[in-house]
Amino acid sequence: MRLAGKVAIVTGAAGGMGEAAVRLFAREGAAVAAVDLSEEALLPLVKEVLDHGGRAIAIGADVTRAADAARIAELSEAAFGPPNVLFNNAGVDTEGKRSILDIDEADFDKVVEVNLKGVWLMIKHIAPRMIANGGGSIINTASIAAFIAASSAGYCASKAGVVGLTKAAAVELGPFGIRVNTLCPGATETPLAARQHREMEAAGLPTSSEIIGRMGVLGRMADPMEMAQMALFLASDDSAFATGADFVNDGGWTAMSGIRVQDFVGA
Ligand SMILES: NC(=O)c1ccc[n+]([C@@H]2O[C@H](COP(=O)([O-])OP(=O)(O)OC[C@H]3O[C@@H](n4cnc5c(N)ncnc54)[C@H](O)[C@@H]3O)[C@@H](O)[C@H]2O)c1
Repeated sequence: MRLAGKVAIVTGAAGGMGEAAVRLFAREGAAVAAVDLSEEALLPLVKEVLDHGGRAIAIGADVTRAADAARIAELSEAAFGPPNVLFNNAGVDTEGKRSILDIDEADFDKVVEVNLKGVWLMIKHIAPRMIANGGGSIINTASIAAFIAASSAGYCASKAGVVGLTKAAAVELGPFGIRVNTLCPGATETPLAARQHREMEAAGLPTSSEIIGRMGVLGRMADPMEMAQMALFLASDDSAFATGADFVNDGGWTAMSGIRVQDFVGA
């Protein structure tokens, strides 16, 4: 088991990639503090882990609030001891509004607060406990939208911010034995993606998992567990030499220019 004896905190754990990571980390031996806005929404997942002989607790908290970040740190350590792994996965998009001209101040503030400030707040409150314990691994979920304009302006800006924050944190916390990396997913079948698809359909755009999937080299969207697997690699000692780096997991989406060689040769 790759996380035997470790304590992991996973934010945004009630759905999508976070839920998959809780399952996988627990299966690999970690005690997991699962965090999301609603504690109730986490209870079936926690029960499932416990039923399979794993260890997990549910924490209802908002990662954009300092008091909540402090409470997550306290509750997790009280239940399982000092943290070894922090998976900063919670994230939102400016749903319903995409254009840089349409989003208002509240939309922009919200996406930056959750996606960027929330990551910083969690690091601020968890890292001291990792330092006291001799180190750890922090994984921050960015996106391919950190590098290309794959979503709304606020979302892209917030995720590019996560990439910068991660490098600064890696440099600052490396001497204390803490590694900090980003996971940069491409299109993945989660509730967030389903909401985006419904929005595109409402705007009259052709969309389906198949069409979106074909925008990448592998011709499909990812399963959330495929993102959890990369998070597991970054959480575990298998990635002991990796820090301050961006781990793109996108089925070749960012490798595509929009034209395939087959388009020229008619294959
Ligand atoms: N799905 C994709 O295609 C995709 C692609 C690239 C990056 N991402 C990123 O991956 C991460 C996970 O996304 P997902 O697709 O699983 O999304 P999701 O919406 O399915 O799950 C995100 C979870 O975060 C929680 N959350 C939102 N705000 C929160 C807050 N303030 N405090 C605590 N929890 C909060 C939500 O309640 C939700 O359960 C996000 O950071 C997202 O931006 C997703």
